[in-house]
Amino acid sequence: MQNKKYNIAIVGATGAVGLELLGLMTERNFPVSNLLLLASSRSAGKCLEFQGRKIVVQELNEKLFRNIDIAFFSAGSQRSLDYASIAAQNGVVVIDNSSAYRMDEDVPLVIPEINPREVALYNRKNIIANPNCTTAVMLMGIKPIHDLSGIKRIVATSFQAVSGAGAQAIDELSDQTRKWANSDKITSSIFPHQIAFNLIPHIDKFTGNGYTKEEMKLLNETQKILNDNNIMVTATTVRVPVFRSHCISVNVETESKVELTRVIEAYKSFPGLRVVDNPDKSLYPMPIESSGIDDCLIGRIREDYTIENGINFWISGDQLRKGAALNAIQIAEVLITNYV
Ligand code: A2P
Repeated sequence: MQNKKYNIAIVGATGAVGLELLGLMTERNFPVSNLLLLASSRSAGKCLEFQGRKIVVQELNEKLFRNIDIAFFSAGSQRSLDYASIAAQNGVVVIDNSSAYRMDEDVPLVIPEINPREVALYNRKNIIANPNCTTAVMLMGIKPIHDLSGIKRIVATSFQAVSGAGAQAIDELSDQTRKWANSDKITSSIFPHQIAFNLIPHIDKFTGNGYTKEEMKLLNETQKILNDNNIMVTATTVRVPVFRSHCISVNVETESKVELTRVIEAYKSFPGLRVVDNPDKSLYPMPIESSGIDDCLIGRIREDYTIENGINFWISGDQLRKGAALNAIQIAEVLITNYV
């Protein structure tokens, strides 16, 4: 990285991902010159701290992007649809955490450990998309296998933390847990059902085929990121009462036989992945271990004895880090190191 510093905007700065981005910029020494923090009118005037400075949050407004080099969008798809292309047309490089542009052919969809060269295509629209959180975590365990053999099919079941539904969802789980402990009446507003002490097999809207949009993202985004339309993915996504780490149980059918030892070796040398797999000592990835760290933890790696070429694994990654803010910052790092 050069010594250049960049004018940065965070759209959705007061949200769960926005706040994580702020922390990560300090942690990773991201070269920030000016920092613009944007949110809704509800947060305008509120102060957030960045590197000892207090910065006043402003209401999102397209005119504010004038001197910005890079804008992180983490305020939901509608804000991205309404403002990201305006910012991009004015020369801002947008790194978008929403699903708005992920499947746009002219927008690269990037996980820096997997397809960093795609960042070069940023200037087609000046937008780079950050993948769905579950896709990002799952593909950290899929890519090393994909490098060893073609993949026919993936069967995935996700266990997704409430952070994926935003800051208010985190508060809802805390609040319901407190009420449950006090035997108070529990109400839900973010989730369609009580999330505390429950599992909800419903994330995002149902589509006409019986799957949710979240489940279909796993298929579509996997094919785009791995540049391989032969991979089929069938998924069930489940919201669980965990604060910020997603887990995914993954079954992979490969085209040719891949020895388990080779898979484990590949995992051990893959950046951003840590093998935690010692069942004799009750060691395997868990959300309480993967929360607040950058690496995704992978374990329970074993052959699927029901098919000829199958592997099972279990992966756990912080939704706010690898699933969102960390991946976005890593994209920005590739961008400033190589292109702007
Ligand atoms: P605010 O805090 O003012 O509502 P999360 O995903 O954690 O729910 O965060 C969503 C982020 O998107 C928050 O920073 C939120 O700001 C912001 N946001 C939501 N609606 C709008 C809007 N209409 N305009 C700008 N920012 C918005």
